[in-house]
Amino acid sequence: MEIDFEAIEPQNRYKLLVGFVIPRPIALVTTRSPAGVDNAAPFSFFNVFSEDPAMVVLGLQRRPDGTLKDTARNILDTGEFVVNMVDEAIAEAMNLCSVDFPPEKSEPKISGLAIEPSRLVKPGRLADSPVSMECRHIQTIEFKPTRSLVLGEVVWMRARDDVIDSGTLRVRDDAYRPVGRLYAHQYARQRDRFELVRQTYPEWLESQREEEPA
Ligand SMILES: Cc1cc2nc3c(=O)[nH]c(=O)nc-3n(C[C@H](O)[C@H](O)[C@H](O)COP(=O)(O)O)c2cc1C
Repeated sequence: MEIDFEAIEPQNRYKLLVGFVIPRPIALVTTRSPAGVDNAAPFSFFNVFSEDPAMVVLGLQRRPDGTLKDTARNILDTGEFVVNMVDEAIAEAMNLCSVDFPPEKSEPKISGLAIEPSRLVKPGRLADSPVSMECRHIQTIEFKPTRSLVLGEVVWMRARDDVIDSGTLRVRDDAYRPVGRLYAHQYARQRDRFELVRQTYPEWLESQREEEPA
Protein backbone atom coordinates (compact mmCIF):
# COMPACT_ATOMS: atom_id res chain seq x y z
CA MET A 1 0.00 0.00 0.00
CA GLU A 2 1.27 3.49 -0.87
CA ILE A 3 0.02 6.37 1.26
CA ASP A 4 0.12 10.02 0.21
CA PHE A 5 0.63 11.83 3.51
CA GLU A 6 -0.38 15.18 2.05
CA ALA A 7 -3.73 13.77 0.94
CA ILE A 8 -4.84 12.02 4.12
CA GLU A 9 -6.43 13.56 7.20
CA PRO A 10 -4.18 14.39 10.18
CA GLN A 11 -5.95 11.78 12.35
CA ASN A 12 -5.00 9.08 9.83
CA ARG A 13 -1.39 10.32 9.77
CA TYR A 14 -1.47 10.10 13.56
CA LYS A 15 -2.82 6.55 13.44
CA LEU A 16 -0.07 5.45 11.05
CA LEU A 17 2.80 7.25 12.76
CA VAL A 18 2.00 6.09 16.28
CA GLY A 19 1.16 2.58 15.07
CA PHE A 20 4.44 2.06 13.25
CA VAL A 21 6.93 4.15 15.22
CA ILE A 22 6.90 2.08 18.40
CA PRO A 23 7.63 1.92 21.22
CA ARG A 24 7.93 5.58 22.08
CA PRO A 25 9.46 6.58 25.40
CA ILE A 26 7.19 8.48 27.76
CA ALA A 27 8.19 11.73 29.44
CA LEU A 28 6.07 12.39 32.50
CA VAL A 29 6.75 16.12 32.57
CA THR A 30 6.49 18.07 35.79
CA THR A 31 6.15 21.84 35.72
CA ARG A 32 5.14 24.48 38.23
CA SER A 33 2.72 27.26 37.34
CA PRO A 34 3.55 30.86 38.28
CA ALA A 35 0.82 30.45 40.94
CA GLY A 36 2.77 27.52 42.42
CA VAL A 37 0.60 24.59 41.27
CA ASP A 38 2.59 21.39 40.53
CA ASN A 39 1.55 19.92 37.19
CA ALA A 40 2.36 16.53 35.64
CA ALA A 41 1.44 15.21 32.20
CA PRO A 42 2.73 12.41 29.95
CA PHE A 43 4.12 13.03 26.44
CA SER A 44 5.23 10.29 24.06
CA PHE A 45 6.11 12.56 21.16
CA PHE A 46 9.35 12.81 23.06
CA ASN A 47 12.95 11.78 22.85
CA VAL A 48 16.54 12.85 23.45
CA PHE A 49 18.36 14.17 20.42
CA SER A 50 21.91 14.98 21.44
CA GLU A 51 24.30 14.96 24.36
CA ASP A 52 26.11 18.25 23.69
CA PRO A 53 23.89 20.05 24.43
CA ALA A 54 21.93 17.32 26.23
CA MET A 55 18.72 18.02 24.39
CA VAL A 56 15.19 16.72 24.87
CA VAL A 57 12.28 17.48 22.57
CA LEU A 58 8.56 17.36 23.38
CA GLY A 59 5.85 17.44 20.70
CA LEU A 60 2.96 19.38 22.20
CA GLN A 61 -0.48 19.68 20.69
CA ARG A 62 -2.92 22.38 21.74
CA ARG A 63 -6.26 21.47 23.29
CA PRO A 64 -9.22 21.14 20.91
CA ASP A 65 -10.34 24.67 21.92
CA GLY A 66 -6.95 26.06 20.76
CA THR A 67 -5.58 26.83 24.23
CA LEU A 68 -2.13 25.72 25.40
CA LYS A 69 -1.90 22.65 27.58
CA ASP A 70 -0.80 23.45 31.14
CA THR A 71 2.65 21.94 30.48
CA ALA A 72 3.26 24.22 27.48
CA ARG A 73 1.90 27.27 29.33
CA ASN A 74 4.08 26.61 32.39
CA ILE A 75 7.23 26.01 30.32
CA LEU A 76 6.70 29.25 28.42
CA ASP A 77 5.96 31.15 31.66
CA THR A 78 8.79 29.73 33.80
CA GLY A 79 11.40 28.36 31.35
CA GLU A 80 11.82 25.15 33.36
CA PHE A 81 10.53 21.57 33.44
CA VAL A 82 11.49 18.10 34.61
CA VAL A 83 11.28 14.95 32.48
CA ASN A 84 10.50 11.98 34.72
CA MET A 85 10.86 8.60 33.01
CA VAL A 86 7.96 6.17 33.43
CA ASP A 87 8.52 2.63 34.61
CA GLU A 88 6.08 -0.22 35.20
CA ALA A 89 5.48 0.83 38.82
CA ILE A 90 4.17 4.31 37.97
CA ALA A 91 2.47 3.50 34.64
CA GLU A 92 -1.06 3.69 36.07
CA ALA A 93 -0.37 6.97 37.86
CA MET A 94 1.09 8.33 34.60
CA ASN A 95 -2.15 7.46 32.82
CA LEU A 96 -4.19 9.32 35.44
CA CYS A 97 -1.96 12.38 34.91
CA SER A 98 -3.10 12.49 31.27
CA VAL A 99 -6.64 13.50 32.27
CA ASP A 100 -7.28 17.08 31.14
CA PHE A 101 -7.53 18.55 34.63
CA PRO A 102 -7.94 22.35 34.89
CA PRO A 103 -4.76 24.35 35.68
CA GLU A 104 -5.59 24.77 39.37
CA LYS A 105 -5.71 20.98 39.91
CA SER A 106 -2.42 19.22 40.66
CA GLU A 107 -2.03 15.87 38.86
CA PRO A 108 0.78 14.60 41.14
CA LYS A 109 -1.49 15.09 44.16
CA ILE A 110 -4.49 13.47 42.46
CA SER A 111 -2.48 10.46 41.26
CA GLY A 112 -0.58 9.97 44.53
CA LEU A 113 2.83 10.85 43.07
CA ALA A 114 4.99 12.61 45.66
CA ILE A 115 7.02 15.62 44.53
CA GLU A 116 10.60 16.09 45.74
CA PRO A 117 12.53 19.34 45.28
CA SER A 118 14.76 19.51 42.23
CA ARG A 119 18.38 20.71 42.46
CA LEU A 120 18.56 23.44 39.83
CA VAL A 121 15.00 24.17 38.70
CA LYS A 122 11.83 25.20 40.54
CA PRO A 123 9.50 22.43 39.31
CA GLY A 124 9.91 19.38 41.53
CA ARG A 125 10.73 15.86 40.39
CA LEU A 126 8.57 12.78 40.97
CA ALA A 127 9.95 10.80 43.91
CA ASP A 128 8.82 7.47 42.42
CA SER A 129 10.29 7.96 38.96
CA PRO A 130 13.45 5.90 38.35
CA VAL A 131 15.18 8.82 36.64
CA SER A 132 14.39 12.52 36.43
CA MET A 133 16.01 15.11 34.20
CA GLU A 134 15.89 18.76 35.15
CA CYS A 135 15.57 20.86 32.00
CA ARG A 136 15.83 24.48 30.97
CA HIS A 137 13.74 25.63 28.04
CA ILE A 138 15.90 26.37 24.98
CA GLN A 139 13.31 27.23 22.37
CA THR A 140 9.78 26.45 21.21
CA ILE A 141 9.21 25.98 17.50
CA GLU A 142 5.63 26.60 16.38
CA PHE A 143 4.75 24.75 13.18
CA LYS A 144 1.03 25.31 13.06
CA PRO A 145 -1.32 27.02 15.49
CA THR A 146 -1.95 23.57 16.96
CA ARG A 147 1.52 22.01 17.11
CA SER A 148 4.80 23.00 18.69
CA LEU A 149 8.11 21.39 19.52
CA VAL A 150 9.60 22.31 22.87
CA LEU A 151 13.39 21.98 23.07
CA GLY A 152 15.01 21.74 26.47
CA GLU A 153 18.50 21.19 27.82
CA VAL A 154 19.09 18.67 30.59
CA VAL A 155 21.06 20.40 33.33
CA TRP A 156 20.77 17.80 36.10
CA MET A 157 19.88 14.13 36.31
CA ARG A 158 18.79 12.20 39.36
CA ALA A 159 18.73 8.40 39.02
CA ARG A 160 17.47 6.04 41.72
CA ASP A 161 20.42 4.14 43.21
CA ASP A 162 19.19 0.73 42.05
CA VAL A 163 18.98 1.69 38.35
CA ILE A 164 22.54 2.99 37.97
CA ASP A 165 26.06 1.81 38.73
CA SER A 166 27.51 4.91 40.37
CA GLY A 167 31.07 3.93 39.45
CA THR A 168 30.65 3.33 35.74
CA LEU A 169 27.42 5.36 35.21
CA ARG A 170 26.02 2.30 33.40
CA VAL A 171 22.28 1.78 33.63
CA ARG A 172 21.35 -1.45 35.42
CA ASP A 173 19.15 -3.18 32.86
CA ASP A 174 17.93 -5.72 35.38
CA ALA A 175 16.44 -2.98 37.61
CA TYR A 176 15.32 -0.33 35.10
CA ARG A 177 11.85 -1.23 33.84
CA PRO A 178 10.76 1.54 31.47
CA VAL A 179 7.39 1.47 29.75
CA GLY A 180 7.00 2.39 26.08
CA ARG A 181 3.89 3.72 24.43
CA LEU A 182 2.45 1.87 21.47
CA TYR A 183 -0.88 3.18 20.10
CA ALA A 184 -4.34 3.79 21.55
CA HIS A 185 -4.28 2.35 25.08
CA GLN A 186 -1.44 -0.08 24.42
CA TYR A 187 1.93 -0.05 26.18
CA ALA A 188 5.01 -2.28 26.08
CA ARG A 189 7.48 -3.49 28.67
CA GLN A 190 11.10 -3.44 27.55
CA ARG A 191 12.23 -6.84 28.81
CA ASP A 192 12.90 -8.75 25.58
CA ARG A 193 16.39 -7.60 24.61
CA PHE A 194 19.09 -8.88 22.29
CA GLU A 195 22.59 -7.78 21.36
CA LEU A 196 24.01 -6.65 18.03
CA VAL A 197 27.71 -5.82 18.08
CA ARG A 198 28.55 -2.90 15.80
CA GLN A 199 31.66 -3.26 13.66
CA THR A 200 34.12 -0.64 12.52
CA TYR A 201 34.81 -0.52 8.78
CA PRO A 202 38.22 -2.30 9.15
CA GLU A 203 36.51 -5.01 11.21
CA TRP A 204 33.86 -5.42 8.54
CA LEU A 205 36.57 -5.71 5.83
CA GLU A 206 38.32 -8.32 7.95
CA SER A 207 35.10 -10.29 8.38
CA GLN A 208 34.61 -10.31 4.58
CA ARG A 209 38.14 -11.70 4.10
CA GLU A 210 37.42 -14.46 6.60
CA GLU A 211 34.37 -15.48 4.60
CA GLU A 212 36.30 -15.69 1.29
CA PRO A 213 37.23 -19.26 0.29
CA ALA A 214 40.98 -19.96 0.69
C1 LIG B 1 1.03 7.95 27.15
C2 LIG B 1 0.53 9.29 26.71
C3 LIG B 1 1.29 10.05 25.83
C4 LIG B 1 0.86 11.32 25.44
N1 LIG B 1 1.63 12.03 24.56
C5 LIG B 1 1.26 13.29 24.21
C6 LIG B 1 2.10 14.04 23.34
O1 LIG B 1 3.17 13.59 22.90
N2 LIG B 1 1.70 15.30 23.02
C7 LIG B 1 0.55 15.84 23.52
O2 LIG B 1 0.25 17.02 23.22
N3 LIG B 1 -0.26 15.16 24.35
C8 LIG B 1 0.08 13.88 24.73
N4 LIG B 1 -0.71 13.17 25.59
C9 LIG B 1 -1.90 13.82 26.17
C10 LIG B 1 -1.54 14.72 27.37
O3 LIG B 1 -0.90 13.97 28.40
C11 LIG B 1 -2.84 15.34 27.92
O4 LIG B 1 -3.36 16.23 26.95
C12 LIG B 1 -2.69 16.04 29.26
O5 LIG B 1 -3.97 16.32 29.78
C13 LIG B 1 -1.94 17.36 29.17
O6 LIG B 1 -1.89 17.87 30.48
P1 LIG B 1 -1.52 19.36 30.87
O7 LIG B 1 -2.64 20.26 30.36
O8 LIG B 1 -1.47 19.31 32.37
O9 LIG B 1 -0.21 19.70 30.24
C14 LIG B 1 -0.36 11.86 25.95
C15 LIG B 1 -1.14 11.08 26.83
C16 LIG B 1 -0.71 9.81 27.19
C17 LIG B 1 -1.56 8.97 28.12
